Amino acid sequence: MSFAADVRAGLSRDPKRLPPRWFYDDLGSRLFGAICALPWYRVTRAELGLLTGASHVVRRRMGKPGLVVELGCGTGEKLALLLEGLLGPRERTRVALVDVSREALALTASRLAVRGGLSVQTFRADYRVGLGSALLQRARGPALVVFLGSNLGNFDPPQARRFLTRIRRALRPGDGLLLGADLVKPEADLVLAYDDPLGVTASFNKNLLRRMNDELGAGFDLDTFRHRALWDAGRSRVEMHLVSCVSQSVEVPGARLTARFRRGETIFTEASYKYTESGLRSALGDAGFPCECSWIDEKARFALSFFRVP
Ligand code: TRP
Repeated sequence: MSFAADVRAGLSRDPKRLPPRWFYDDLGSRLFGAICALPWYRVTRAELGLLTGASHVVRRRMGKPGLVVELGCGTGEKLALLLEGLLGPRERTRVALVDVSREALALTASRLAVRGGLSVQTFRADYRVGLGSALLQRARGPALVVFLGSNLGNFDPPQARRFLTRIRRALRPGDGLLLGADLVKPEADLVLAYDDPLGVTASFNKNLLRRMNDELGAGFDLDTFRHRALWDAGRSRVEMHLVSCVSQSVEVPGARLTARFRRGETIFTEASYKYTESGLRSALGDAGFPCECSWIDEKARFALSFFRVP
């Protein structure tokens, strides 16, 4: 779906919502990079800390991968670190990057070019379409699919199970999956991670309004919206919203739409589900991934798991 079509559909319904993929234009990708550097958002650092140890185990269990596919590559920092542990100094492999953001693909490809010996293909697509195209790049040797950053948590649980099943069906014996997932932790930590005192996450969320102004000619006054993050313990998810502080109508010509907001009405922009260790194991097990190895950062409560298809 195009941005205009998603905006039209998402802002005409009640409650309003927008799919999170539209966060990641060039500015959005940079703001997300800044979020990853915040002391309150520990997902990225925790994962980086676990990756080197994990990469050696992955190598021992599956041998040298002929293809590494990353879904949602971001800045490529994690993938570069993973490949360092996965490959010997002169070893070569193919890498397929899937991301909706042009900026993310370019950044990751240029970071990987520094290492040399990698043949890198980029797929600007959503995960589903991108996974299929990426796996067509298989050469000799097993494929490793890498799905990090707790991106799985941005699917609701049934979608997450469906997507894991889709990955499983696309894999062959000997292939592997490396998955990063954020775990349930105290509410105060979760809220700070998604509503930081520097306002970077607020800017990241409000960048969606700026993007609608720039790309669809919309008339959003950014000062009349604020960012809200809340923990829904029942659903085990952090919700991100943009709250309209006033009652207002906003023209969005590029989406042929007038969006009407009540005071306090929100646009639901993202859910980030947090797993318990057992919930994660059962979601993965149901999709046909009985866990082989997992690593947990106890302080950040973040889990990295590896599976090899028998
Ligand atoms: N996949 C990330 C997560 O859910 C994305 C993310 C981090 C995010 N911080 C955010 C999305 C703030 C929206 C707003 O952890």
